[in-house]
Amino acid sequence: MKGILLAGGNGTRLLPVTSAVSKHLLPIYDKPLIYYSLSVLMLAKIREVLIVCKEDDVKSFKTLFGNGSRLGMNIEYAIQNEPRGIAEAFVIGEDFIGRDSVALILGDNIFYGQGFSPLLLDAAKSSEGATVFGYPVKDPKRFGVAEIDESSNVVSLEEKPSEPKSNLAVTGLYFYDNNVIEIAKKLSPSARGEIEITDVNIEYLKRKKLKLKMLGRGFAWLDAGTNESLIESSQFVQTIESRQGIKIACLEEIAFSNKWIDLQVLKENYQRVKNSEYGEYLQLLISQREKL
Ligand code: DAU
Repeated sequence: MKGILLAGGNGTRLLPVTSAVSKHLLPIYDKPLIYYSLSVLMLAKIREVLIVCKEDDVKSFKTLFGNGSRLGMNIEYAIQNEPRGIAEAFVIGEDFIGRDSVALILGDNIFYGQGFSPLLLDAAKSSEGATVFGYPVKDPKRFGVAEIDESSNVVSLEEKPSEPKSNLAVTGLYFYDNNVIEIAKKLSPSARGEIEITDVNIEYLKRKKLKLKMLGRGFAWLDAGTNESLIESSQFVQTIESRQGIKIACLEEIAFSNKWIDLQVLKENYQRVKNSEYGEYLQLLISQREKL
């Protein structure tokens, strides 16, 4: 399975902050926002990732990740200069996806909760159809919304409905079989001029190939697209990390525990960040490992 991380868009809701920097590079407490979405793909054991972003931002993302080798991954880049819609990722990424299945994550989404890794591995295993994740929210009008029946089967899907049929938002993490390319290519832009990811999911629903998995109360899902959600996300990460002493979305830690990098490469990664608290955390991982 391949992974696509969508990190384009104009970040207009965060202006003037985003007039000179991509939203996905802004800090969420101790690391850039994009770390959180990349960590989700890594937890799903997806090693080949395409980052889709604006031409101006490629250099910055390459500074962070290069070709992915420091994480034992293969990371490629593709350009989307105008936000023509989330589903355009599959058209832009057609060659990268090839004949594989693909997971898509939005670069401003943050997920955290116990049991997330098995859920991801399960979704990544499924070779047919689509898997999306539902999460109850107070303000469903801002999201794609799923209506479900008593057995949690999806009955309808709507993008930013003015009168939501439920409080169940569809999060920005999607797993698809290879048909997604052909489905995305046939879509027409919506009233807001975008090729909508919700229309892709509606097509899978019509084909009876859409699965929705619930993220329950013990779970945190945040999308850091507004000033308020940026600070809330930072506070959330700070609270968990300072209480537990365990980092959320430490990419080097995940790469190491996936056995994608060895101790030597972990040490090289430490050298890049050694003056920071993030670096101290890597140092701790290294010394714990050396004691074994
Ligand atoms: O966060 C989940 C929601 O994301 C879903 O519930 C909605 O169904 C889905 O449409 C999307 O809604 P948003 O209005 O929040 O999407 P937004 O335009 O904010 O874009 C989300 C991320 O994707 C953001 O990091 C920018 C990036 N993006 C977006 C578009 C439209 C791109 O890179 N290219 C694009 O063309």
